[in-house]
Amino acid sequence: MPLPPPPNLLVFRAIRAIDPAVALDATVDVVIESGTITRIAPDASSSVLRADNAIVIEGRGLWLLPGLVEIHAHLREPGFEHKEDIATGLAAAAAGGYAHLCAMPNTSPVCDTPEAILRMLDRARSLGGPRLHPIAAVTSGLAGTDLTDLRALRDAGAVAFSDDGRCVMSGELLRRALLAARELDAPLIQHAEDHTMTVGTVMHEGAVSRRLGVRGWPREAEDGIVARDLEIAASTGGHYHLAHASTRGSVRLIRCALERGVSVTAEATPHHLLLTDAQVATSGALARVNPPLREGEDVEALRAALQDGTVSCVATDHAPHASEEKARGLLDAPAGMMGLELCLPLMMRLVEAGALRLERLIDALTVAPSRVIGIAAPSIRVGVRADLCLYDPQECWSAGRAGLRSKSRNTPFLDDTLRGRVRMCIADGVICFELAS
Ligand code: DOR
Repeated sequence: MPLPPPPNLLVFRAIRAIDPAVALDATVDVVIESGTITRIAPDASSSVLRADNAIVIEGRGLWLLPGLVEIHAHLREPGFEHKEDIATGLAAAAAGGYAHLCAMPNTSPVCDTPEAILRMLDRARSLGGPRLHPIAAVTSGLAGTDLTDLRALRDAGAVAFSDDGRCVMSGELLRRALLAARELDAPLIQHAEDHTMTVGTVMHEGAVSRRLGVRGWPREAEDGIVARDLEIAASTGGHYHLAHASTRGSVRLIRCALERGVSVTAEATPHHLLLTDAQVATSGALARVNPPLREGEDVEALRAALQDGTVSCVATDHAPHASEEKARGLLDAPAGMMGLELCLPLMMRLVEAGALRLERLIDALTVAPSRVIGIAAPSIRVGVRADLCLYDPQECWSAGRAGLRSKSRNTPFLDDTLRGRVRMCIADGVICFELAS
């Protein structure tokens, strides 16, 4: 990723700046000096525009948003660099407007030691760009039998614990992990899947799986785990975060638990919010994800939950896989969809359809995930380092023709016409992505 030196002076002139966290939605000038936001006001730039080192970006219909925060991505390094590596993963994140990204531990070897955490952090620091926050494994090797040394992992820099890709099936281990996570003030992120019910399954169990004649994984495989886990979360007081919620049952259970005061949050992905299991019939392996795409009523429940905050976060579950792997077909391809570079325009479809308020979407991509992992949320405020996403809400483009930064292309949205495009990303005061105009 090219790393230009921080411009001394960067000026966004007459731009629509939107940050619901500080009740900002106005056309203003935003001035950034040596990486820090120093002025936000109409005409704030008039005194600085004469400086010859100023980079000036005219608003002209563009939006300036806080840099986004990804709570769930797979960067594949070490072990699966043919799918993605830390450099291309962070470059894809920057191109998606992300200033922060959390990486899941299902690498090879698994990220289950302090040394593995430190290696990832070193690599990311040497690259610059979006800040990388490693998520450490809950159980050694994701094997589900022995807890990792959560304290040592936290001390090394892990922001959360998860066996994502696998479920922490043992209630006893989950209980101990939640107690430890509570002590360490870090969340436990669960991939809720009762593996005894999903062996050999490739999609949601329903009319479409029956028509295609393939084994489906039923909603109960998610709901049963979520119901049990919420009881354990309630009794331990540890913070439980549900990864990629996919069922109407999960939504109902989370809503109930929140009413009871349980410390719980949840995320939903753009694909679970936009697609149904019918997509598997048309896109085959490209629509194979874990948990699977569900039915219309699940999608409706997830959308309503995102709108009312029951599901507080939007996460991509960026899961890059090589084209040859997806070409093996529905039955043999690995599950997963890439998503970092497409998330914002895809989610804007819901805003444009009137199914989601823009402020809620921005919150779900900035403040809500930051709160779960305990970092200061990017914000458009005077005095903070600039973490910003410059977005053109009008530009129409197609990911397939755009030259994505990710190594992978595994998404059924590849040839869609997308409306809205990230034009620039600034992380920690530095421009880490800029679209050539
Ligand atoms: O579809 C998925 N792919 N879901 C997961 O939980 C894991 C991920 C992967 O690592 O490919």
